[in-house]
Amino acid sequence: MKKIAVFASGNGSNFQVIAEQFPVEFVFSDHRDAYVLERAKALGVAAYAFELKEFDDKAAYERAIVALLEQHEVDLVVLAGYMKIVADTLLARYEGRMINIHPAYLPEFPGAHGIEDAWHAGVDQSGVTVHWVDSGVDSGQIIRQERVPILENDTLESFEERIHAMEYKLYPEVIRELLSHL
Ligand code: GAR
Repeated sequence: MKKIAVFASGNGSNFQVIAEQFPVEFVFSDHRDAYVLERAKALGVAAYAFELKEFDDKAAYERAIVALLEQHEVDLVVLAGYMKIVADTLLARYEGRMINIHPAYLPEFPGAHGIEDAWHAGVDQSGVTVHWVDSGVDSGQIIRQERVPILENDTLESFEERIHAMEYKLYPEVIRELLSHL
């Protein structure tokens, strides 16, 4: 059985959808008070949390993450709202085994506010992208992406809901596919 770990910084709704469909070895959060940790508890998934500021530097922080991944023999790292740039220490060990989901149609609207940026740009469609993680911001090789239209009577909230609905459909599909090839 291939093992997955999910990384999330906040709410964790993507984590929840994933954990309802796949055994998740553990969830990691870079915020000790993230809501995802409560979701993990409710679902009986192991959870770890520590913060970058608790370490001397990012390399030391990522060494602690690598230690967890190695201890649990994780095969696939699934970033789901993990809002930190992955640096050399983690990439050196897991590049090619780490994926991310982004709430826009990359390379359109990278960064921390993909939904709002598309909305305020006034485009008539955006989307959702799953990609391999590299050292850039939402820049790795694209695995799959789907368009989500912005409808005439959409509000930011209704548009956001449809983006998330697409995430909840697309991410498990990609994970299932990747796990079958690992
Ligand atoms: C998701 O929409 C995810 O695509 C986005 O953060 C949200 C996390 O929601 N990630 C990025 O913007 C990465 N650049 P969640 O915590 O409820 O899953």
